[in-house]
Amino acid sequence: MKTYKIAVVYGDGVGHEIVPAGMKVLDRAAQKHGFKLKYDIYPWGAGYYKEHGDFMPVNGLDILKDYDAIYFGAVGLPDVDDTLPAMMYTFKVRTGFAQYVNYRPVKLLKGVESPLRNKRHEDIDFVVIRENNEGEFVQNGKVLRPESPEGVATDTSMFTRKGIERIAHYSFKLAQGRRKKVTNVTKSNTLIHSLAYWDRVIGEVAAQYPDVEYRKMYVDNAAASFVMRPEIFDVVLTTNMIGDILSDLGGAIMGSLGLGPSGNINPEGDFPSMFEPIHGSAPDIAGKGIANPIGSIWSGAIMLETLGENEGGTTIINAIEKTLESGIKTMDLGGSATTAEITESIMNYL
Ligand code: NAI
Ligand code: MG
Repeated sequence: MKTYKIAVVYGDGVGHEIVPAGMKVLDRAAQKHGFKLKYDIYPWGAGYYKEHGDFMPVNGLDILKDYDAIYFGAVGLPDVDDTLPAMMYTFKVRTGFAQYVNYRPVKLLKGVESPLRNKRHEDIDFVVIRENNEGEFVQNGKVLRPESPEGVATDTSMFTRKGIERIAHYSFKLAQGRRKKVTNVTKSNTLIHSLAYWDRVIGEVAAQYPDVEYRKMYVDNAAASFVMRPEIFDVVLTTNMIGDILSDLGGAIMGSLGLGPSGNINPEGDFPSMFEPIHGSAPDIAGKGIANPIGSIWSGAIMLETLGENEGGTTIINAIEKTLESGIKTMDLGGSATTAEITESIMNYL
């Protein structure tokens, strides 16, 4: 029987609730479709940092390297310096493993009502492709004389031709299998060096895909359009920071941040990809057993699809929708189901 080796990192906060929920659902799907998932759980994150002074061991990437995929929750705790989680875990894995695609579907699931009035399920169905290795989040900067009146802080974005070309090719290829539309969300009218170059290189790649409709849209307009006319989007190609912000808005128009899934993908398969919900560790609700596990479970479905187990992924998404249609919902969606109850229901539909 085909067995996939999965490294599991719950992280912190609700990660300890939603990831185990996802593992149960994934196991059920594996059983049904005739494959196996072998999990190794690593206790890394901000909690680990409090004991060991790091979010993962120094050889953490070496440990993860040989897995088929990484299934992750979120990192960060209120009593740990919040400049550390991305630097010491999330970005380390995303860049160390060239997971340059951050794949974030925005889709109104059956059984969920969007906070947008009059928007139907077919109106909210697009994917945000967030450049995941460079841009605004390279953490290239400095703080000088912070205490003095002349204190200075900088963060310099970095965009490379190679980085832009590869994310653009991924997006156009993805669009070819969907509704054949790519919207480049940019801000080149003000970031006249970095994002004008971003636009230029994407424009060159766009010319190689004449079957895909290409348009450029400024992020301010895109934010408004996510709310007013989400139906115009198919593949949204954007930068690391813009994609981070817009995908939470995407989660909101889907009905809850707790629903949004993601894959940090290395398309070449040179390294394992990592799958995690778009939300954070939600310390405000952690430990109460009420977190919505769907973002995590759906991320697991994307993991299966990336591993080539497409049927497994599809049946999980169907089971999620059947559960929501039956009215079983967590608090963030206006329901009263616990994490355990909704997980149980999804497993039963599987
Ligand atoms: P957050 O996404 O954790 O929470 C925002 C709001 O959404 C909260 O009210 C929370 O209760 C709610 N929420 C999130 N997930 C939910 C779920 N599954 N079910 C129901 N409600 C849910 O963002 P916040 O509060 O800005 O950050 C908290 C911590 O998470 C910080 O330390 C931050 O750095 C970290 N973080 C980590 C990420 C990662 O590891 N990839 C991503 C985003 C934030
Ligand atoms: Mg985010």
